[in-house]
Amino acid sequence: MTEQPAVRPVSRRGLLTGGALAAGGTLAGAAAVTAARPAEPKARPAEAVPVAAFGSAVEPFHGARQSGIATDPQAHAAFVAFTLNPGTDRAALGRMLRLLSDDAARLTQGRPPLADTEPELGLLPARLTVTFGFGPGLYAAAGLDDRRPPSVADLPSFRIDRLQPRWSGGDLLLQICADDPVTVAHAQRVLVKDSRPFATVRWVQQGFRRAAGSEPGRTQRNLFGQLDGTANPKPGGPLETAVWVPDGPAWARDSTTLVVRRISMNLETWDLLGRPDRELAVGRRLDTGAPLTGTAEHDQPDFAATGPDGLTVIPDFSHLTRSHVTDDRLKILRRPYNYDGTPTAEGHADSGLIFTSYQADITRQFLPIQQRLAERDLLNEWTTPIGSAVFAIPPGCPDGGWLGQQLLG
Ligand code: HEM
Repeated sequence: MTEQPAVRPVSRRGLLTGGALAAGGTLAGAAAVTAARPAEPKARPAEAVPVAAFGSAVEPFHGARQSGIATDPQAHAAFVAFTLNPGTDRAALGRMLRLLSDDAARLTQGRPPLADTEPELGLLPARLTVTFGFGPGLYAAAGLDDRRPPSVADLPSFRIDRLQPRWSGGDLLLQICADDPVTVAHAQRVLVKDSRPFATVRWVQQGFRRAAGSEPGRTQRNLFGQLDGTANPKPGGPLETAVWVPDGPAWARDSTTLVVRRISMNLETWDLLGRPDRELAVGRRLDTGAPLTGTAEHDQPDFAATGPDGLTVIPDFSHLTRSHVTDDRLKILRRPYNYDGTPTAEGHADSGLIFTSYQADITRQFLPIQQRLAERDLLNEWTTPIGSAVFAIPPGCPDGGWLGQQLLG
């Protein structure tokens, strides 16, 4: 039997007065199994899950904006980043993107692409979207650096970063999402095969959320068990101003940008933490997702409210306090996927979040949040960024067109 670590409760004050933070990662080691056995979560009310034809559901490929961003997140995703071959110049990029756009246009509509070697696998679109992203290297290869959105550049390094090249960078990104994992695998295979003359695969990150239809309309949970996505800007209103570039030349209008961060989540040390401390770290309840000052998920947090101990009810260094944004134009759209790799032989998890954030301007919107979190966020004790990449997401294309044509055509 394995020995249990020493049990010492982590007090609220301990969390906040630096004992924990100064210990730089030892907090959780010394942390307690306070309330190690959380109360049984309340059973969900039975829900009428419509017997929808998930397999045949379709998302548009053509349009002013690319799909896969404001699209209700599908259950499975593969993020495939490429490095362009030395000879892939502006003309070759045009050829590559015509080909990949044609593949994506067909696959997303449940029509196998030309020369598909497994055409039966192309018949079930399951809301497949293929979203194209251009890294800084693509603009350089095309000789179009003057058209690169200035914020699409390597992020500054943060003290919390432990970035690995195998999860970082990339000249071209294909974000492939669908409600069916076989559909994702097949689309990835076709698109990678057709990119071979032009580029090599740099990294692939595969992620998942709850199965399609299992929790309709609910916020997804990450592998810490938290509701993740509550405060996202909503379609129609805030999302419109936060995500999409409203004007400018044809290659800028209706574009956006994407930050992909692979963030490892230390489930071993998180599991040692009691439920109240977990809730203090993020500033929200685990069961309902309500802020610690409220009762329902979408209640507004009250950052000024104090408890009997004189401390703010939502800790100043909670993830919620540090990441909170009130100005709609400065919000970001998070569309994260969980990942769960192979545990070590000793049974230690390799889990985390493929954190993705869409915003009109990385410098103005994403960076200030990330800087505040890197400075002081209790969650940093259990999370470590191990990959990072940035991409411009060009506008969509009309029927018969191709992704990137406004930029390269
Ligand atoms: C593994 C890493 C992370 C985890 C587990 C995590 C988890 C959470 C949770 C549980 C919430 C509260 C519910 C919600 O509104 O979604 C939240 C909110 C938020 N997070 Fe994170 N997060 C992580 C990383 C990041 C990063 C890297 C950023 C940006 C740089 C970020 C930005 C935000 C923002 C903007 C909010 C909404 C705050 C508000 O306005 O209320 N998070 N996150």
